[in-house]
Amino acid sequence: MHEAALDAVAARLADARRVLFVTGAGLSADSGLPTYRGVSGLYNDEHCEDGIPIEAALSGDMFQINPGLTWKHIARIELACRDATFNAAHEVIARLDGPGREVWVLTQNVDGLHARAGSKRVIDIHGDVSQLFCPVCAWRERVSDFSHLTEMPPTCPQCGAIIRPDVVLFGEMLDMDKLEVLQAELARGFDLVFSVGTSSLFPYIQAPVLEAKQAGITTVEINPDTTGLSPIVDHQLPMGAADAMRGLYQRLTSTDTPPNG
Ligand code: OAD
Repeated sequence: MHEAALDAVAARLADARRVLFVTGAGLSADSGLPTYRGVSGLYNDEHCEDGIPIEAALSGDMFQINPGLTWKHIARIELACRDATFNAAHEVIARLDGPGREVWVLTQNVDGLHARAGSKRVIDIHGDVSQLFCPVCAWRERVSDFSHLTEMPPTCPQCGAIIRPDVVLFGEMLDMDKLEVLQAELARGFDLVFSVGTSSLFPYIQAPVLEAKQAGITTVEINPDTTGLSPIVDHQLPMGAADAMRGLYQRLTSTDTPPNG
């Protein structure tokens, strides 16, 4: 199934010197994590149990007014990520980077799984849930999980202010430093751009694919469902991320033992 499309994409990948993977929750779905929308979506209900849209609960404004409520939902996301490990898709993306081929990852995922799989050039544009910081003083700490955070909302061990994870809440600005890195790498150019496991709702997530397409650069979408980008990409692989990346890896390396994730 989808053999011809996998063959065509693998052939482009074999020649590509700079590759961009734009990734979202669907890539980590194969690690057992819920997506935000669609099948197993965390946010499928219009309103969360607090009677407001989840986007409102997870917003920068709500964090100011009622940090306990925002923290309750952030803690759920962290709990969903807690015991997850990277899968074959994360692993293949990491392995594709090497001599003669530079691979960049622009991810919306806050689970840190690309880095754990070994990817070095990761722009985690929505942050990392494991990185806690105090907005008032300079305190920062990377944690393996939130199990030690017994007090909710948790407070800073140095100054007592309410701490938060280094993630972008709804309505907040993206990190300028990360945007600069993204702009610089886009300006250097890519010769192959993938969109994997994302509903591609945000303009800064669509843009690298749309701009690549306009510039005549090959674009690929890996998603069992269709998105707004599906009609414009050169290759649409209606498959799960792990299966698709395993299929590409097999074609590139001719190995019988692709990573299992
Ligand atoms: P979404 O939940 O919006 O979309 C997940 C996509 O993955 C859907 O298009 C699914 O069809 C697809 N999918 C599901 N299973 C898959 C699989 N096994 N392999 C490949 N694709 C699969 O997630 P994102 O697009 O990442 O933002 O959502 C973007 C942002 O929306 C999140 O980062 C978060 C959320 O609001 C913030 O919190 C700021």
